[in-house]
Amino acid sequence: MEAEVTFRVDGTSHRLTVDVRTTVLDALRERLGNTSAKKGCDHGQCGACTVLLDGQRVNSCLALAVAHDGAEIVTAAGLASDGELHPLQRAFIRHDAFQCGYCTPGQIVSAVGMLREAEAGWPSAVTAGQPADGGSGGSDGPTVGILTDDEVRERMSGNLCRCAAYANIVPAIQEVAR
Ligand code: FES
Repeated sequence: MEAEVTFRVDGTSHRLTVDVRTTVLDALRERLGNTSAKKGCDHGQCGACTVLLDGQRVNSCLALAVAHDGAEIVTAAGLASDGELHPLQRAFIRHDAFQCGYCTPGQIVSAVGMLREAEAGWPSAVTAGQPADGGSGGSDGPTVGILTDDEVRERMSGNLCRCAAYANIVPAIQEVAR
């Protein structure tokens, strides 16, 4: 059984006919040729497939395309703007926060989502009394205060790195959060 769905992916609208069992990940990769989101486990365990779906970070391997008709999808490939990498992309490069790179698009998209969640005010995200500096130090990313190592590790626990680059991923995210 098939159905028509419409997505806006990284700013471009697409209309396609999909089998109703098609996931958002497979629609992106196999139908739209957008291979930014990676297929690791295909079972919601690794986070390599993370995209922003209507602003929320989700494992796209678990999301059925037909359940998200009309959705706005952002992949790591759509984070740059005006020819400039997203602050998190730049921070990952500065901190050498990857080895093989397979999990990196999912890590970065998940971190973007996490920082938005922090901005929206999860209770423990912003250290009391820490003013957001609004981009001083070269960052024009979200301003959510200081995130501890434990906060970042917990909130990013859905994104696995088999190379174990966590020691560099955590400070890269913290740098943008400041
Ligand atoms: Fe989706 Fe692993 S491929 S969570």
